[in-house]
Amino acid sequence: MPRILILCTGNSARSQMAEGLLRSYDPALEVWSAGTRPAAQVHPTAIRVMEEMGIDIRAARPKSVEQFLGQPFHYVITVCAQADANCPVFQGAVRRRLHFPFDDPAATGGDEGNILEAFRRVRDQMSVRFRDFYLAHVRAATPRLRPARPADLEAIRRLLAACELGAEGLETQFPDGYAVVESAGDLVGAAGLEIYGEDGLLRSVAVEPERRGKGLGALLVRGRLEWAVQRGLRAIYLFTTTAADFFAGMGFWAVEREAAPEGIRSSEQYRVACPASATLMCLTLR
Ligand SMILES: CC(C)(COP(=O)(O)OP(=O)(O)OC[C@H]1O[C@@H](n2cnc3c(N)ncnc32)[C@H](O)[C@@H]1OP(=O)(O)O)[C@@H](O)C(=O)NCCC(=O)NCCS
Repeated sequence: MPRILILCTGNSARSQMAEGLLRSYDPALEVWSAGTRPAAQVHPTAIRVMEEMGIDIRAARPKSVEQFLGQPFHYVITVCAQADANCPVFQGAVRRRLHFPFDDPAATGGDEGNILEAFRRVRDQMSVRFRDFYLAHVRAATPRLRPARPADLEAIRRLLAACELGAEGLETQFPDGYAVVESAGDLVGAAGLEIYGEDGLLRSVAVEPERRGKGLGALLVRGRLEWAVQRGLRAIYLFTTTAADFFAGMGFWAVEREAAPEGIRSSEQYRVACPASATLMCLTLR
């Protein structure tokens, strides 16, 4: 999940509204806002126009950018007006700097009605800009589990080859029972559950080598187990030569190869693909 910092001068209106908007798309998002000269409080009209959208920023407080200098960020986004000479330059570690210019609604002259309209206008402009940013940079980069589609077959073959797993008989029950993890349009993980009578055979559980250790393997396996439970399967079997400990951590235990039920024995994995040295593991569901 990317870490995002939004900056303006006072951290009382635009950057607070942007933070509230981003958080409303995903409450788990790691997003903060700050200013180079933090104001005493968040502008009450900013709170009001966000409330009109159902976003509560009453608890927000202006913060100094200083407190974030030692922290790494994937994105630092400045939201000052185009010609603002006070627009802060973040000195800490940043992967990407973006500038989304918005007029300062608090600087609007005229009566309260004018100011309120200016805040609403900036809020709506920000809503469009930050929604686009979220979809293009955040959601697309967040690994997402989804059912496999026929068009995924070749990408799964490549993934299995990169993970040194065989692809024998892959197309037999594909794409039913298969799921993939996608990140920024790339297929980075896969797992399949083939059905043999009352039992399932978990196979082709693979995560791209550089994406391992981040919970994607567990996400894939849990997804296949839920799928099996929904279908009322009796037990899940799998063969592994290298990841017995990983599957033990997911509740599987090793069984004798001969203990496999008839249906599992008829699978290509059992008959030809998995070497005698592979461990057969089982998880009973009912
Ligand atoms: C096995 C594999 C799918 C795990 O994927 P992953 O995304 O790294 O796994 P996760 O990050 O979800 O790990 C979940 C837990 O299992 C542990 N784990 C992961 N791989 C392990 C392995 N090979 N042996 C022992 N433990 C392992 C992790 O440390 C983690 O433990 P934690 O929850 O205590 O932190 C991945 O290593 C892989 O693709 N291996 C090559 C293909 C393979 O062998 N597939 C299995 C046969 S079908």
